[in-house]
Amino acid sequence: MKIGVLDSGIGGLTVLHEMLKVLPEEDYIFYADTQHVPYGEKPKDEVRQYIFEAVDYLAAQDIKALVIACNTATSIAVNDLRQAYDFPILGIEPAVKPAVQNSMIKRKKVLVFATTLTLQEEKFQNLVRSIDTADIVESLALPELVQLAEKRQFAEEEVQSYLEQALSGLDPNQYGTIVLGCTHFPYFREHLHHFFPEEVDIIDGGEGTARNLYRILQEHSSIGEGTGKIMYVESGKVIHEAEQLEAYHQLLVRLSSPSPFRSS
Ligand code: SIN
Repeated sequence: MKIGVLDSGIGGLTVLHEMLKVLPEEDYIFYADTQHVPYGEKPKDEVRQYIFEAVDYLAAQDIKALVIACNTATSIAVNDLRQAYDFPILGIEPAVKPAVQNSMIKRKKVLVFATTLTLQEEKFQNLVRSIDTADIVESLALPELVQLAEKRQFAEEEVQSYLEQALSGLDPNQYGTIVLGCTHFPYFREHLHHFFPEEVDIIDGGEGTARNLYRILQEHSSIGEGTGKIMYVESGKVIHEAEQLEAYHQLLVRLSSPSPFRSS
């Protein structure tokens, strides 16, 4: 049986990339809801409907577990999805807890980047409230990064000019840890590093999600049932075209390189 991985677009590949490291002998079905991306700037009820349509499709493929590789979808639907389906469902949350621990040691603040919906949601607000006792967590929506990733615009100039404008009100020296709270954002890790002092850590939840998946499959005694095959689906349409498959493959390959997306 396969593992389902769901995102609004290519952001979920940054999580799949981590999953492939710890669970290489699984088969995956990667569902990108490309017809409806971006989720993070749309009305919540509309996005919830798209998510349920996508998960209905994946459930019909007889998956053994589902990873919601999208922070926005996790924020607004993971609890309801768990009520509705009987396979294990994992979400991804902004890594606020390790960020607060890290920044407390450095006596600096935490800055969370995510989509507007994720930051507005009660799930995020509650998470911060429960952890941020010293009041050091700040947040900022960077919606354009989702669009840039979807358009495969990783070139230095385009990204830098957006970030210059979006981050212009911040004092970069205040922060010890940056949290990437959207799975599209790890594509821009290097670009973001330019804006902050070298000692600032930039973290995301991909690795933790992969580790949780490993633990859950272990509990269900179902590790290593495949061969690392990945089937790609875009909003209910299976991708067969060699060119499109190669484009997905190249994104995964580049995520493995030391400084991906720095200058192309
Ligand atoms: C989006 O579709 O707006 C981004 C999804 C995410 O939050 O990871």
